[in-house]
Amino acid sequence: MMPKARKRDASRRISVFGTGYVGIVTAATFASRGHEVVCVDVIPDKVALVNSGISPVHEPGVDKALKKAVRAGRLRATTDAEEAVKGTDISFICVGTPSGPDGTIDLAQVRAVAADIGKALGGKRGRHLIIVKSTVVPSTTVEVVLPIIRRGSGRKVGRTLGLACNPEFLREGSALRDSMRPDRVVIGAVDKESLEEVEALYPGGRVPIIRTDPTTAEMVKYVSNAFLAARIALANEVANICSAYEVDVYEVMRAVGLDERIGPHFLRAGAGFGGSCFPKDVRAMVQAAREEGVTLHVLPAVLQQNEFQPLEVVRLLREATGGLKGKVIALLGVAFKPDTDDVRETRALPMAVALLKAGTRLRVYDPNHKALVEFTGLVRGTAHAKIRGGARNLSMASDLTEALDGADGCLVQTEWAEFRKIPPSTFKRLMKRPVVVDGRRTFDPEAMLQAGIDYSAVGWKNR
Ligand code: UGA
Repeated sequence: MMPKARKRDASRRISVFGTGYVGIVTAATFASRGHEVVCVDVIPDKVALVNSGISPVHEPGVDKALKKAVRAGRLRATTDAEEAVKGTDISFICVGTPSGPDGTIDLAQVRAVAADIGKALGGKRGRHLIIVKSTVVPSTTVEVVLPIIRRGSGRKVGRTLGLACNPEFLREGSALRDSMRPDRVVIGAVDKESLEEVEALYPGGRVPIIRTDPTTAEMVKYVSNAFLAARIALANEVANICSAYEVDVYEVMRAVGLDERIGPHFLRAGAGFGGSCFPKDVRAMVQAAREEGVTLHVLPAVLQQNEFQPLEVVRLLREATGGLKGKVIALLGVAFKPDTDDVRETRALPMAVALLKAGTRLRVYDPNHKALVEFTGLVRGTAHAKIRGGARNLSMASDLTEALDGADGCLVQTEWAEFRKIPPSTFKRLMKRPVVVDGRRTFDPEAMLQAGIDYSAVGWKNR
C-alpha cells in the first residue's frame, strides 16, 4: 500500500547532516517554516555553537533565525547520527564535497553520512526519506549514496525508503534569503512518492518546481554554476579586449545585458571568480567529462581564463607603478567576495603570490578579521613552497590607514562597502603616490581620475 499524499506545510521531523553553509541555512529555513529540525555534525564545537543559536559560518540573518528556532524548541544539534535519524523521518545530506588534486570531488563525507544513516535505519521502523543537497557529480545519488543506504539498512526504495536529490542555489552572503525565496526548486527523485514528499516541504506559490530524476537534478546544479562561471570568464576576456581599445567594459555590458536573451547578471568583469563553488564545480565537471571520455573545449578555457585574470590585474599595477620590485603595495580585500569571511579560492591568493614573487613589500587588509588571518596563513603556506624567502615581505594591516600609509600602490580585490566609501582624498593623503588599481570596479573611474588619483581598472580606458 502506498502512503497517502503529503499535505504541503505539514510539520515534519527533519535531520540535517552538516552544519556548513548549506546545512545550517537549510536547517534554519525549515525550522522557520515550522518543522522540527535536528542538525548533525561530527565536530562537537559546531554542535555546541548551533545549540546556543550561533551559526558556525558567517552568514547574514542566520544567527537570528537559529536563536529564534532554538528558543522555540524547533531546532537543536547533536553529534549522535543514530539518535538523529531515529528521531526524524527525513534526512538531508549537506556535507562538503571538496576538490581533490585532479579536480575530482572527494565523496568521503557523503559516503560516511550515507553509511551512518543506513546503519541507523536498520534499527528504525517506518518510512524514511533521504535528500542529497551536497553538490555531487551526476549519478552520485543513485550510484554511490543509494547502494550505501541499501547495504546499511537492508531497505529498498519504495514504501519504507525514499531518496531524492534536491540541489541548492544559495549564494554566500545572501544564502538565507536565497533559501527562503528560491527562484526555482529542483527535485530529482527515484520514485513518485519521494518526489511528492520533497515537494510538500516547499511552500506552494509561483516558484517553478522542476520534477525530474536524481541524475538530471545533479546535472542542473553543475550546469548552473558552469554557465555562470563561463559568463564571468567571458566578461573578463571581453574586458581585456575593451582595455586595448580604450573602451569601458561596464558600459559595453550594460548595453549587452539589455538583450533579453543575455540578461544583465553575472557580467561584472574583474579579477575572476573565487569561492567554494565555481572553481571547484567547473573542475569537477571537466574531470567527470574526461572520465566519461567526453572532449571538452569551453570549460577548460573558463578555468584557464580565471587563472590568468588576477595576473592581468597585477600587470595593471606593474604598469601603473613603473615596476614592482621594492614597492610597498596595499592589497585591499582578501575574502572571495564582500560580506563573507570565506577565502576559499580567493583571487587574492594568486595576486599576493605574484606580488611577493615580484619583490614587493605587501600589506594585506580585509574588514573581516577571520578572512584576513586565514588568508595570511594561506599565503605563507603557498609562498613557502613557491617563493625564495617565503612570505617574509608580507604583513597584515589592522586597518585601512595602516595598509595605505606610505604605499606606492593599492590593489582592490574585494568590493567591500567599506572600500567604496573611501574618499579619493584618503588615498592622496596616506599613500606615497595615489596609484589605485581596481580589480572589482569598486570606484567610479571618472570621479577617481578627476580627484587626481592615478586610477586603472579591469576593462577600463587605462593608459
Ligand atoms: C555561487 C552561485 O552564485 C550560487 O547560485 C550557487 O548556489 C553557489 O555558488 C553554490 O554552488 O553553492 P557563491 O560562490 O556564493 O555562489 O558566490 P557568487 O556571488 O556567485 O560569486 C562567485 C564569484 O564570482 C565571486 O568571486 C565573485 O566576485 C565573482 N563574480 C560574480 C564576478 O567576478 N562577476 C560577476 O558578475 C559575478
